[in-house]
Amino acid sequence: MERMRTHIGIVGAGPSGLLLSHLLHLQGIESIVIENRSREYCENRIRAGVLEHGTAELLVECGVGERMKREGLVHEGIYLRYRRQDHHIHFPELTGGKSIMVYSQHELVRDLIAARLRDGGQIVFDVDAVALHGLESNSPRISFQKDGKPFEIACDFIAGCDGFHGISRPSIPAGVLRTYEESYPFGWLGILAQVAPSSTELVYSNHDRGFALLSMRSPEVSRLYLQCDPEEDLNEWPDDRIWSELRQRLSTEGGWKLKEGPITQKGVTGMRSFLVDPMQFGRLYLLGDAAHIVPPTGAKGLNLAVADVRVFSAALDAFYKKGSRDLLARYSKICLQRVWKVQRFSWWMTSMLHKSNQGEFFEQIHLAELDYVTSSRAAATALAENYVGLPFEPL
Ligand code: APR
Ligand code: PHB
Repeated sequence: MERMRTHIGIVGAGPSGLLLSHLLHLQGIESIVIENRSREYCENRIRAGVLEHGTAELLVECGVGERMKREGLVHEGIYLRYRRQDHHIHFPELTGGKSIMVYSQHELVRDLIAARLRDGGQIVFDVDAVALHGLESNSPRISFQKDGKPFEIACDFIAGCDGFHGISRPSIPAGVLRTYEESYPFGWLGILAQVAPSSTELVYSNHDRGFALLSMRSPEVSRLYLQCDPEEDLNEWPDDRIWSELRQRLSTEGGWKLKEGPITQKGVTGMRSFLVDPMQFGRLYLLGDAAHIVPPTGAKGLNLAVADVRVFSAALDAFYKKGSRDLLARYSKICLQRVWKVQRFSWWMTSMLHKSNQGEFFEQIHLAELDYVTSSRAAATALAENYVGLPFEPL
């Protein structure tokens, strides 16, 4: 058994684990990140790509925002498209100057891995048989295998940043966590296409054939989504059927034209709202998808993970610098205040924009909701304030 020692053992090299390790490094707090996939897999895993104003600011402040600033796309709003007409929600005007940044999550993961390795950080990829021990003691441990050899990390705290399917949350004894969960009767069929985006900003479309979203990754690459059945069979969706459905759901009275091109990646994802309370047990703290999942309609998953990291890294800084346990004790409560607000916004965007199986009355309610949001400054401001990111609570 090879033994390692550090301050914080971090399980998972996704955005939350890597950003946490980087912020701790800036605070002089050591950490070791272990990840059960390869570096190459983590750096190429296609996920979402919208960063809130505060997330982009934090990345620049902590020195990992250079490439994002160079290659990311600043958007000042989104289009809500329904009854085949466009309505623009202009963020800076409604939020005192804030905007969003379109920058792929896997590009951010690449930047964070590069920064950790540049600064001498330890990331152990391709591990397996990860298990957590002594969570209720003052010296928890993480055991794992690497190349068939047993390893153990002794640390002061464990950060469970291993996503929804990780081992951290299930390591908490039954009965400790209260789970809240809602699954939606639809999913998203998402594609990457090698074609210039057909819009300068994101288009969210409510259509009687179902929801559609036009997003992008760069001036050359489009990212588009279609509402589908959660168990949709991709074999039923040859490329021309996908483009035909997108054309219909994104069509406008003005004859707006969707640019089409080679589809380079496609996949189906289910949609759920999920969270656990508390987000902590003993010396184990859960961050990001390990503690909460939001439907992607509000583009909040990554940003919520970053918000958890911001609170936990501040709590550890206070612990190691001042011996204060106050923020650690309030970590879960502080994070869940934001998590519930973001759950509400993501559920609201999902309900308003998707075709549900609740019947005609609710379809009309969704359209009335869109009429209200696009005709009331107060309602548009509420959407904009949530979309660009609610202000961070002072800690
Ligand atoms: N041991 C080690 N690593 C693990 C284990 C395990 N048992 N299980 C999972 N992991 C790794 C995954 O391979 C992944 O790299 O943990 C990482 C978790 O990363 P994410 O799922 O990206 O979660 P998080 O960092 O919280 O980021 C949340 O990711 O899924 C998106 O929409 C979500 O944008 C949000 C963001
Ligand atoms: C994306 O670009 O992948 C994306 C954008 C907005 C969303 C969800 C996903 O709401």
